[in-house]
Amino acid sequence: MTNLLSTAWLAAAAVALAACGGGASQPKTPAPLPDNYDDMNHEQRIQFMKEVVLPKAKDIFVKFDAKYADMNCKTCHGKGASTGEFKMPNPDIKVLPGTEEAFMAYIAKDEKAARYTKFMAEQVTPLMAQLLKRTAFDPKAGTGDFSCGNCHVSDPPHPPLPHAHHDHDHHDGAHEGGDPDAGSAAGSAAPAH
Ligand code: HEC
Ligand code: HEC
Repeated sequence: MTNLLSTAWLAAAAVALAACGGGASQPKTPAPLPDNYDDMNHEQRIQFMKEVVLPKAKDIFVKFDAKYADMNCKTCHGKGASTGEFKMPNPDIKVLPGTEEAFMAYIAKDEKAARYTKFMAEQVTPLMAQLLKRTAFDPKAGTGDFSCGNCHVSDPPHPPLPHAHHDHDHHDGAHEGGDPDAGSAAGSAAPAH
């Protein structure tokens, strides 16, 4: 009897499998993401942000301030998270003073700004650069292609650093048309870049 039952079960399973063409009953595994952010399309970038960027960013933000327990796409992308565009830099987060003098004056008189700047420079920028496989801007050496300006708009405007490694993301106007000398104007502290 046991034997018969198990055979019946097997047969039923085989029929069910055949009916949906075998593999179709397998749980759907999403295609693996490309290794490089630059090689991802819009949908893959959303998946990457969801699975990798947001959890890692939230981790350091919460350690910095528990109020970020509800951190989400909007924390970095502002309204861009609702429109689905996710354009960066995002004008909804703090617009940073765009000259070294103005920036230094801002953090000198604003204790919160100073505290955030340290966190942003030492943790947020390096983490994000690493996740996007870019190099955090080093104000002393003048090297790197990811900085504050990739997330924050600045006033006067400070375009995001030109991104050298790959050239297939030309659809993103934000990477283009920048003044190539914009970075050198600000000196060693230049966190606003
Ligand atoms: C810690 C900040 C941060 C968080 C949180 C974050 N992102 Fe991003 N995201 C970025 C940055 C920075 C870029 C732009 C990288 C670049 O090209 O300079 C970006 C780019 C994108 C892009 C590509 C935009 C384009 O123009 O190609 C998409 C799509 C995106 N994010 C979706 C999301 C989604 C969805 C979430 C939430 C699950 C999310 N992001 C959370 C920082 C963040
Ligand atoms: C990956 C994106 C990203 C990068 C890179 C980044 N920031 Fe931020 N920054 C944020 C987010 C998100 C917040 C928090 C917004 C909030 O709490 O609503 C923030 C907040 C701040 C604040 C607090 C402003 C205020 O009073 O509310 C300052 C100051 C700041 N950033 C400066 C910098 C500086 C300087 C750099 C470069 C050294 C930098 N940020 C790099 C995303 C970024």
